[in-house]
Amino acid sequence: MTRKEINVDELVVHIADPVASSTDRANEGSLRPVDLGEFIGQTELVNHLSIVLQSAKARNQPPDHILLSGPPGLGKTSLAGIVASELGVSLRITSGPVLTRPGDVAALLTDLSDNEVLFIDEIHRLSRTVEEVLYPAMEDRRLDVMIGRGPSARSIRLELPHFTLVGATTRTGLVAAPLRDRFGFVGQLDFYTIEELTQVIERSAKILEIGISTPAAQLISSRSRGTPRIANRLLRRVRDFANVHQRPQIDSATAEDALTTFGIDTLGLDKVDRRILEALCRQFASQPVGVATLAHVIGEEAHTVEESYEPFLLREGLLSRSNRGRVATEKAYRHLGLVKPQN
Ligand SMILES: Nc1ncnc2c1ncn2[C@@H]1O[C@H](COP(=O)(O)OP(=O)(O)OP(=O)(O)O)[C@@H](O)[C@H]1O
Ligand SMILES: [Mg+2]
Repeated sequence: MTRKEINVDELVVHIADPVASSTDRANEGSLRPVDLGEFIGQTELVNHLSIVLQSAKARNQPPDHILLSGPPGLGKTSLAGIVASELGVSLRITSGPVLTRPGDVAALLTDLSDNEVLFIDEIHRLSRTVEEVLYPAMEDRRLDVMIGRGPSARSIRLELPHFTLVGATTRTGLVAAPLRDRFGFVGQLDFYTIEELTQVIERSAKILEIGISTPAAQLISSRSRGTPRIANRLLRRVRDFANVHQRPQIDSATAEDALTTFGIDTLGLDKVDRRILEALCRQFASQPVGVATLAHVIGEEAHTVEESYEPFLLREGLLSRSNRGRVATEKAYRHLGLVKPQN
């Protein structure tokens, strides 16, 4: 592969998006930590979870149902797998948008084997009618099924096997209160520190057999927006760059060159982030702008701007949001080397 064969423009556009691409999904399997000992960071959550799981094992009973919440790419799906492997049981995976009818969840629940872990991703997207089937199932392993129609319809009650429900959500606020209340353990995942992400990168490099120095891993982690998924993605891009330039060992100079080539700057902003800030600074000159207008100007969908880009820009204090719209902050002007107009 020569340098020309890497279509930089095509690869960089969403490089700092925390949401998984299909390539991430294909690559993540081998990089997922498989037990709590391998899971880096989230120390308090991991401690609490470890106690809950050990106690369940000692009692020979399933643990409480577990709800994991936090932004994309921080390790919720990985933790669901870890819960099952720590308990020595299998994991059944589904997601809110897939379970459209009450019959879907009833079929799934009655098919579980004893003590299995059922993982429902994007649990905030379950419909109300599906949630209502889950309530008695979560509370006392009960499933009420209606059979027949009209006046001859009757309800039969089925007893379900012991199971643990692990739910994951990026939007805790959207999980209906009655559903949230039925989880005995709620864990919140937070962004990772640079030190933790350095460990994530060093671990992934070992698995992928990539030679990388600690300073290079630190450099990549400082631009990974606190998110392991992004750290792993940047590592793969840096590896590609190093391969093309025949640098078998990745040092900080190689990492720096690679990230610059792929348009990742010192704050971990990609091209789209900078396009957003530049539009706010140059075109709108500190006037508040609605998300639809902003998205249109930079050629993205409004929900992509809101869900994938804004959270990090807000968190970094580069953008502020009011009910009148979005504006770039002083820090954004400085980062782009511009001067904020006085008004
Ligand atoms: N604590 C960790 N230690 C090591 N690697 C991690 C850790 N957390 C996440 N990862 C890596 O990041 C990738 C993404 O994590 P995961 O898929 O579990 O995130 P998620 O929270 O489920 O994201 P989403 O909200 O998009 O579903 C994993 O494949 C794994 O390689
Ligand atoms: Mg996930």
